Amino acid sequence: MASSTFWLTAVLAVSTVSTTASPLLSTKAATGALDINLDLQGVNPAVKPLFLPGSPNSAATTNTTSRCKVYPEDSAWPSDEAWAQLNELTEGRVITAPTPLAAVCYPGKDYDAAQCAKYTIAAWQKSYIHMIDPIEMMSPVAQGLTCSPPTLYDSHGCTRGGFPMYVVNATEPKHVQLAVNFARNTGVRLVVKNTGHDFLGKSGGKDALSIWTHWMKDIEYIEEYVDEKLGYRGPAFKSGVGVQAFEIYKAAHEKGRVVVGGEGETVGVMGGYIQGGGHSPLTGLYGTGADSVLAFEVVTADGEFVVANSTSHTDLFWALRGGGGSTFGVATSVTVKAHPDLEVTASRFSFSSAQTGNETFWAAIRSYVDSWIANADAGTYTYWTLVPTNGTFAFGFSPFFAPGKSVEEATALLQPWFNRLNDLGVKFDPNITHFDNYYDAWRSSFPLEAVQKPNVATASRLFPRANFETAEKRQELYEHIRSSSEKNRVQVHFNMQAKDPANNDNAVNSHWRPLVSFSMQSVRWPINSTAVEILKIRKDFQDIDMQSWRDISPGAGGYLAEADRLEPDFGNAFWGDKYPKLLELKKKLDPQDLFFAATGVGSERWRVESVDGLPNENGKLCRV
Ligand SMILES: Cc1cc2nc3c(=O)[nH]c(=O)nc-3n(C[C@H](O)[C@H](O)[C@H](O)COP(=O)(O)OP(=O)(O)OC[C@H]3O[C@@H](n4cnc5c(N)ncnc54)[C@H](O)[C@@H]3O)c2cc1C
Ligand SMILES: *[C@@H]1O[C@H](CO)[C@@H](O)[C@H](O)[C@H]1NC(C)=O
Ligand SMILES: *[C@@H]1O[C@H](CO)[C@@H](O)[C@H](O)[C@H]1NC(C)=O
Ligand SMILES: *[C@@H]1O[C@H](CO)[C@@H](O)[C@H](O)[C@H]1NC(C)=O
Ligand SMILES: *[C@@H]1O[C@H](CO)[C@@H](O)[C@H](O)[C@H]1NC(C)=O
Ligand SMILES: *[C@@H]1O[C@H](CO)[C@@H](O)[C@H](O)[C@H]1NC(C)=O
Ligand SMILES: *[C@@H]1O[C@H](CO)[C@@H](O)[C@H](O)[C@H]1NC(C)=O
Ligand SMILES: *[C@@H]1O[C@H](CO)[C@@H](O)[C@H](O)[C@H]1NC(C)=O
Repeated sequence: MASSTFWLTAVLAVSTVSTTASPLLSTKAATGALDINLDLQGVNPAVKPLFLPGSPNSAATTNTTSRCKVYPEDSAWPSDEAWAQLNELTEGRVITAPTPLAAVCYPGKDYDAAQCAKYTIAAWQKSYIHMIDPIEMMSPVAQGLTCSPPTLYDSHGCTRGGFPMYVVNATEPKHVQLAVNFARNTGVRLVVKNTGHDFLGKSGGKDALSIWTHWMKDIEYIEEYVDEKLGYRGPAFKSGVGVQAFEIYKAAHEKGRVVVGGEGETVGVMGGYIQGGGHSPLTGLYGTGADSVLAFEVVTADGEFVVANSTSHTDLFWALRGGGGSTFGVATSVTVKAHPDLEVTASRFSFSSAQTGNETFWAAIRSYVDSWIANADAGTYTYWTLVPTNGTFAFGFSPFFAPGKSVEEATALLQPWFNRLNDLGVKFDPNITHFDNYYDAWRSSFPLEAVQKPNVATASRLFPRANFETAEKRQELYEHIRSSSEKNRVQVHFNMQAKDPANNDNAVNSHWRPLVSFSMQSVRWPINSTAVEILKIRKDFQDIDMQSWRDISPGAGGYLAEADRLEPDFGNAFWGDKYPKLLELKKKLDPQDLFFAATGVGSERWRVESVDGLPNENGKLCRV
């Protein structure tokens, strides 16, 4: 895709890739609070307490008994002078009331028909324009759909909805500390936005103060990083939290290395992805993204800037590796293992029931399920799709991805199923391609990611080995997949294992470990449905469609970053047996619930009271 290639070049040009070897952590790293007081000299004493670090009750201004966070109509909302001071202290990095992109499509001061015409469905659905915007998110449903381009969804005007009111365009830990202190001391809701990829819209929040981490782009290569406790001695990258998949993969490629990151080109792999666990084309070999983390630099809930690693702030280090974003602190950098580069063999192909007829199509899917354990055990990663359209079904390998495997090895894994496809008379061209490095394989194999549609909700299940060990269980799983398709659910599956490396005690969902298939299905509703109709469809989707997947996988879970806000018992689903400890750590590390993310650890205590009653960010955040 020519336009996207151009765009990548433009972005890469502005990111700093420092290639010099460096000490373990840069001298900018601090073990305690930065000297914020120094920076507060000359600040009007009336607003100065709003910027002080410290335990949550230290500033007299906080009304900890109020039911909801503080909103513009409340008398406790910070004065214009206080906001202006925040802007001054952050060297002018506060963006006030940023305009939603699609405001140009509706009557009002921002109306601009020519600009609106550029927001075609194709342009809007690419992640590029959203990831570089201070507020836009890739889950419009979770924003509340209050400002969409009419080509996609007519929001009948543009309002702020679930978007924040103020954004700190942070490039240094100090900016993060100031915003954290300000939110904690005023009671204003705090959110963190990196790229906005989260399926549940956790980067948004009505009238919130947002810390936007996108521009923290530094990448530093460390020749030899030693951590005895983690049993690691080898190269590493220290990366700013705004670094995205395409940036770190390129930097790693230039060093003959790979890092564990997502398949999606623009996912913020050093932000929400890595803190939430994060699956990768390399997960079958090295585990989740969080399993490769060596250290974080973090601003804590009381505004301290600390290093969390195996010997410093170890509770925080444990929780940040899998416990989820926007829950325990705001990371400003992540140091991750750099693994050796490797060859990859990949295959992309598709076939459809329009060519095969229904029964042959489903026989092909049934026999595919038989190969999943072997494919997972071999460390391969298969992203495959099953899309129903008007009574026909399309299958796609998008792709089968075999890191560290030659063409012969990859073909040997696929051959039993290919033989069966040939027996069935299915016509397909597997196009098995060999790459001598990961970067080229990744770039040419995965689809360009898309922003979510305005009438879709997705939920996920981590199907364990037990679902594949006998022919009866495989038949049962196949029947559920088929039945979801026949009910018009779009499905995306990832056949993989999530390797558990040595010395790996962290907060990553225990349900990843016996994994064979990370599976998602999506429900779609008519675009003009009312809120009441949508809520009914979404509840039925959980109570019927997802419940049927849960029923055949008792004790399994889902993936917190590719999930549904209506996931029942989300604590167990998203963290398994790690949840009790995470709840304890949340109380210890963020006792006032400064940080909140929908379905995050401890989020049971809060609820967004949305204006339309749907699960989204368009409402006040209040205690339950
Ligand atoms: C098209 C697409 C492809 C995807 N591909 C993959 C994939 O291959 N593998 C995979 O595992 N997932 C994938 N995801 C899901 C992805 O991991 C999540 O969306 C993840 O939350 C993205 O993190 P982010 O920082 O980019 O997004 P954001 O939505 O900006 O942030 C996600 C959450 O993390 C918090 N957060 C972000 N940065 C920080 C920080 N520095 N400190 C504290 N909290 C922070 C945010 O507040 C928010 O709660 C994909 C999603 C999409 C839409
Ligand atoms: C704190 O909030 C409570 C509940 O909203 C309210 O009744 C009380 O008056 C507030 N106190 C102060 C000092 O603002
Ligand atoms: C955010 O900061 C970056 C880095 O300084 C800058 O390039 C960008 O223009 C800023 N964006 C906005 C919207 O202010
Ligand atoms: C962890 O961070 C602290 C503080 O920077 C540092 O002194 C220590 O050496 C680090 N531990 C490891 C194992 O790198
Ligand atoms: C599916 O059917 C509908 C109604 O008959 C039609 O409008 C639509 O174009 C069809 N879609 C495809 C992809 O064939
Ligand atoms: C295939 O199955 C679908 C749904 O189960 C049905 O709508 C469609 O008519 C079938 N196609 C044929 C050709 O029988
Ligand atoms: C086969 O795959 C390679 C790499 O993805 C691609 O460049 C090539 O165009 C594909 N060939 C066909 C016939 O699709
Ligand atoms: C949505 O549109 C369909 C036809 O396009 C119509 O039958 C239905 O009544 C509409 N629903 C609502 C809630 O407007």
